Amino acid sequence: MERKAHWESIYTTKTQTEVSWYQPHAAKSLEIIKHTGINTSAHIVDVGGGASTLIDDLLAEGFRNLTVLDISAAALEVARQRLGARAAQEVTWIEADITQAVLPRHYFDVWHDRAVFHFLTVADDRRRYVNAANDVLKPGGHIIMATFASDGALRCSGLEVVRYNPEKLHAEFGDAFELIESHEENHQTPFDTTQKFTYCFFRKR
Ligand SMILES: C[S@@+](CC[C@H](N)C(=O)[O-])C[C@H]1O[C@@H](n2cnc3c(N)ncnc32)[C@H](O)[C@@H]1O
Repeated sequence: MERKAHWESIYTTKTQTEVSWYQPHAAKSLEIIKHTGINTSAHIVDVGGGASTLIDDLLAEGFRNLTVLDISAAALEVARQRLGARAAQEVTWIEADITQAVLPRHYFDVWHDRAVFHFLTVADDRRRYVNAANDVLKPGGHIIMATFASDGALRCSGLEVVRYNPEKLHAEFGDAFELIESHEENHQTPFDTTQKFTYCFFRKR
């Protein structure tokens, strides 16, 4: 199935709490975003944010320049409905494939991705993704990436993934980015199973 059709089908057949990646709060992401030292006027994009609750927590923390990008219109609609009026007033929503998206240059202070990059199993897609991140981030901008760990699951949502440790993920981004910190996390899925994640925080030089 084509990439967009796959994700539209997931979000139209399951509720937001019925997917393995669901978190009531994106605690680790929020913790690292706070570590960056940005202030609440910073521009943050959640790439492949889908229906994630990270956006709710960022709004609650007072951040006001927020963008959520996702390939699935249905996913974005779930988050919009949940947020109500704040969705239209305080968040920019972009329906796009990140490997093809046209985004403003040197605009964002923070690029966040949890469980999206690891679905890019084709090197050309990963190259386009990294070019996009490099292009849209301001110099000194921050990237927070969460992928399945090197000993994590081989598949998610019926799709193959590429698993990473911090060094392997850093190699994808190259010397234009400095690895600031990394963390491992055992994510408890709603089905009482565990998924091992690697979180990396890079800074654009
Ligand atoms: C496993 S989910 C993670 C969602 C969210 N980041 C979270 O942590 O809850 C993967 C998300 O990436 C989106 N996605 C997959 N491939 C994408 C692409 N090439 N461009 C943009 N979004 C994509 C999917 O629609 C889905 O919302």
